[in-house]
Amino acid sequence: MEGRFITFEGGEGAGKSTQIARLKQRLTDAGLDVIVTREPGGSPGAEKIREILLSGEAKDLGPRGEAMLFAAARADHVDHTILPALERGAWVLCDRFADSTRVYQGEAGVDPKYLDLLETAAVAGHWPDMTILIDIPADIGLGRVSKRAEEQGISGPDRFELDDVSVHERRRDMFLALAAREADRFVVIDGTQPLDKVEDDVWQAVTGKFRDIGTQQPTSRGETDAKSA
Ligand code: TYD
Repeated sequence: MEGRFITFEGGEGAGKSTQIARLKQRLTDAGLDVIVTREPGGSPGAEKIREILLSGEAKDLGPRGEAMLFAAARADHVDHTILPALERGAWVLCDRFADSTRVYQGEAGVDPKYLDLLETAAVAGHWPDMTILIDIPADIGLGRVSKRAEEQGISGPDRFELDDVSVHERRRDMFLALAAREADRFVVIDGTQPLDKVEDDVWQAVTGKFRDIGTQQPTSRGETDAKSA
């Protein structure tokens, strides 16, 4: 049984984590072994780098130095979390991956050729089978982020949320351009729709691409259920 690697991308407040949780539920219901992970982070080493990046402690390194840290975190995450899961046949749902570096650090002025080199080293050939871009205008996404922070009493915005709305809009345009350029891998979904509609669109996209969902061998949990039924 072969695992699948799906990444979610988008600007701040696009609703990626909600949709990842919902997709996980649907895939688990279909009898699949699913893990959810995120970047920066997703492995013990990468989580340490996450703290340095999101606190702004690494800002003085400049965008190129930050890009190297994102790449270092990604290499650790691929080696210690993503690959072992894919090798045992699990589906890996990842909140952000290399496309975020291309967009965020690319927008900050890092030479794309330099980003390509870092990407090649960090990803080591393990590209996602599918990338779901949840697209939302920057002002709507940022509005959601501040509302959520207020409701949940979360401390202030992180290093990247603090940027000007025009920066967030440019990131959005760059994600859309990337999706158009790599149309075989990307699916773009309108994140302004009601959550249930976004969930349905994600499911349509995933079942359209991986038509064998539900026909793969069940996980060990499924096997136990089948025997006891
Ligand atoms: P986080 O709160 O995890 O993400 P989200 O905004 O998706 O809820 O914060 C991750 C931040 O790091 C986010 O602002 C995007 C940024 N980022 C980069 O700049 N480059 C990268 O390669 C990655 C993975 C994230």
